[in-house]
Amino acid sequence: MSPRLSRRLMLGAGGAAAVRPVAAEDDVIPEWSRTLGEGVDQHPYGKPSIHEKAVIRRDVGWLTASPQSSVNFTPLHALDGIITPNGLCFERHHGGMADIDPARHRLMIHGMVERPVVLTMAELKRLPRVNRIYFLECAANSGMEWRGAQLNGVQFTHGMIHNVMYTGVTLRTLLDAAGVKPGAAWMLAEGADAAGMDRSIPLGKALDDCMVAFAQNGEALRPEQGYPLRLVVPGWQGNMWVKWLRRLKIGDAPWHTREETSKYTDLLADGRARRFTWVMDAKSVITAPSPQAPVVGHGPLVISGIAWSGRGTISRVDVSLDGGRNWREARLDGPVLPLSMTRFYVDTEWHGQEMLLQSRAHDSTGYVQPTKAELRKIRGLNSIYHNNGIQTWLIRPNGESENVEVG
Ligand code: MTE
Repeated sequence: MSPRLSRRLMLGAGGAAAVRPVAAEDDVIPEWSRTLGEGVDQHPYGKPSIHEKAVIRRDVGWLTASPQSSVNFTPLHALDGIITPNGLCFERHHGGMADIDPARHRLMIHGMVERPVVLTMAELKRLPRVNRIYFLECAANSGMEWRGAQLNGVQFTHGMIHNVMYTGVTLRTLLDAAGVKPGAAWMLAEGADAAGMDRSIPLGKALDDCMVAFAQNGEALRPEQGYPLRLVVPGWQGNMWVKWLRRLKIGDAPWHTREETSKYTDLLADGRARRFTWVMDAKSVITAPSPQAPVVGHGPLVISGIAWSGRGTISRVDVSLDGGRNWREARLDGPVLPLSMTRFYVDTEWHGQEMLLQSRAHDSTGYVQPTKAELRKIRGLNSIYHNNGIQTWLIRPNGESENVEVG
């Protein structure tokens, strides 16, 4: 341990007294060190420790009318690094979760192609495959915060995001095999769930970096995430990542579904709407401390957060402890990949002072995450989608935290 760190761990405010003297309970041999533990095979599929039982996806009861057309949220306050564990990836379904027998599932590729195909899962898995880490963010993430601070927890303000490693086949491989006809410009992707959700995607994007994935974080997709097959549309809004994918149709014009022409637009103050806003702009948030993760004890404090951009790589994250008056550069740690979550830290000390914590992401295109005031000036208050404004957490002298807005 460096002398500076050991000094920080040992000394309290002003460098005077030890933070906590060694106590009697530090000297006790606990029961788990005195008896044999469970043998192997008690949990053929492992689960987190019972002491982590509060770290779960949660929903907001009043938000939606039915659990089938609803959303729950990733517990970002309790996670670290950049990979979201499979069982904690938020879920967003329009018609409930489809429960699909992979042996009976098919992917059809048709429309403006030379060789229409219908593939089984086994046939798909015989094609060359790739592994890619990407974030998926719902365009409605932070949508409840447009008019002001509302939900008291980063799980609820920012938890419509996950970041996993996908294994699958690129659309370039599939569409080259099918032979796209000249003049084709769009692709329709359709799911096999009760909602039969479909979206039109420009063919350029499909051929650039989209893929069909059958695995996430090394194992088969979870049913919640589209088992046995989902579309991956890197950097673009989550709605386009069609789950339970059964059909790709190639054409020369977008299919104007109800979703695309009305629902997924950003209503501006003057009544006009931004359409086809697919790319997710750079955004960041401090995950801890935050309302669900209060500061415990004085002394060293790790401020931890995530940043991401649908336009490229996170190049820098700034953190403010005083509501945006002063900024310091955060330390990026772990893989810094394009179109993926990036983890950042600020290692500091806390001695009960009130703080207004904020983070501000920069990406490789030079884009800087705006304040909520800057965003509202351009976009008004009517929108639900694409709120990437800077989040503020008030840290009180007792360590508790609250969702607030400044300025
Ligand atoms: N695909 C199908 N077939 N049906 C759906 O309801 N929901 C979409 C998208 N793909 C949906 C779907 C929406 S709105 C989002 S934000 C993402 O899936 C959510 O992905 P997740 O459930 O893996 O978090």
